[in-house]
Amino acid sequence: MKYLITGANGMLGSALCPMLAKDGGEIYPTDINTKGNNIYKLDIRDKEQVQAMVKEIRPDILFHLAAETNVDKCELEPEHAYQTNVLGTKNIALACKEMGIIMVYIGTCSIFDGKKQEPYRETDTPNPISVYSKTKLEGERIVQDLLEKYFIFRAGWMMGGNKKDKKFVAKIIELLETQKEIRAVDDKFGSPTFTFDISRAMIETIKVGRYGLYHMTNLGSCSRYELACKIKEYLKKDDVIIKPIPSSEFPLPAPRPRSEAVENFNLSSIGLGHIMRPWEEALKIYLEQLAKEHSE
Ligand SMILES: NC(=O)c1ccc[n+]([C@@H]2O[C@H](COP(=O)([O-])OP(=O)(O)OC[C@H]3O[C@@H](n4cnc5c(N)ncnc54)[C@H](OP(=O)(O)O)[C@@H]3O)[C@@H](O)[C@H]2O)c1
Repeated sequence: MKYLITGANGMLGSALCPMLAKDGGEIYPTDINTKGNNIYKLDIRDKEQVQAMVKEIRPDILFHLAAETNVDKCELEPEHAYQTNVLGTKNIALACKEMGIIMVYIGTCSIFDGKKQEPYRETDTPNPISVYSKTKLEGERIVQDLLEKYFIFRAGWMMGGNKKDKKFVAKIIELLETQKEIRAVDDKFGSPTFTFDISRAMIETIKVGRYGLYHMTNLGSCSRYELACKIKEYLKKDDVIIKPIPSSEFPLPAPRPRSEAVENFNLSSIGLGHIMRPWEEALKIYLEQLAKEHSE
């Protein structure tokens, strides 16, 4: 199997690419910024460049990971978010359509407005409240409108990537190292998603071959505060105090939904519900991986 991957230099790409290669795949990782990692340069906003590369490589499956994932940057620079997350996705989907390639799109669970008390299922209606989530949902719709052979995998709060981790877990680890007291919001809920686990689940789902939309997060959900406390517990940082605060005390440019917790309903319905472990277990494994990497 031949795979072309966009955004391969990011958090998810750094778990997915080695796994695809280990599974016997011929991989063509691409990114806007190659950073000397044997990665081909591809800016998904450049339609001609996308067409030329997809034509040249002719992958069986194209994993479209590239996106502007900085939620606050998207809010402050909506045109940039649109160019990358919407038009970039359209360029990829059109190239897949022209060449009959299976497309994999990574969506986000933050497309819901967060008002539902229970975890969201794939049948729930999205109602995104931030620019990032709006552009990511538009990306989903483009894929669904243009293609028949596609997988959309919606991820939750991504954790993983080791040195490439630029999200909540990395920030809390850094604060635990440098501060005696840290604050974390206790009124925003989500489902953490370990890059290693979602990569494995995506590969297994593709093997089953049933196209469509899947929620794909680790099992369970938590608040940002609970997640921070678990990191503190696993890292044995007993001397640091974590203070729960309401999000109103931590204003950010982009609004976040109260809840983006989801249930992997469609994954369970194809018999793969067991493949995603509880988020606490996944977090523990990730922190152990990080500790091992630091000690080498
Ligand atoms: N991170 C999360 O919490 C989260 C949650 C749900 C879903 N997702 C989705 O999961 C996918 C993978 O995200 P990730 O967590 O791996 O994020 P990431 O670490 O930010 O990776 C995205 C990669 O895409 C690259 N990129 C940005 N603009 C590009 C362009 N115009 N052309 C080509 N590459 C471009 C980025 O490069 P630069 O870093 O140099 O800009 C980065 O290497 C994304 O589609 C994201 O929307 C992420």
